[in-house]
Amino acid sequence: MSGNITFTMIKPDAVKNGYIGKILDQIISNGYQIRAMKYIHLSTEKAGEFYAIHRERPFFNDLVSFMTSGPIVAAVLEKENAVADFRTLIGATDPSKAETGTIRSLYAKSIDANAIHGSDSDENAAIEASFFFSAFERF
Ligand code: CMP
Repeated sequence: MSGNITFTMIKPDAVKNGYIGKILDQIISNGYQIRAMKYIHLSTEKAGEFYAIHRERPFFNDLVSFMTSGPIVAAVLEKENAVADFRTLIGATDPSKAETGTIRSLYAKSIDANAIHGSDSDENAAIEASFFFSAFERF
């Protein structure tokens, strides 16, 4: 059975462009409840740790430098079938391939600056949520 928690980050491009409110509104109107949320500027060390799974990929250094270029909003979201439905809501990683009306089709410019992150599995949602929020913060 699929879980009811996913993790998201509104990325530096979307924060800089003033889209936090519009993106959160779209998330909430699609049935998600915000269980935890933080506005923070990631260090290089923390961004590298978060994306460690991509360490060997050619885009890793650009990804870390982009994710530390400005503040982000990190959040834990709850809804039935949270992970899969959220991936549908945000659209393809490359915004030029994202379905019309998805968050990336509306607010992202490129595969690097793609406005938003969404966990790709229940297991990663739990890992990513606890990376940003301690066990003492209930969600
Ligand atoms: P995200 O879902 O946050 O996970 C890793 C990020 O790497 C991804 O979104 C993209 O913004 C970025 N990225 C850059 N190039 C690529 C690529 N070729 N394939 C996948 N992700 C990429």
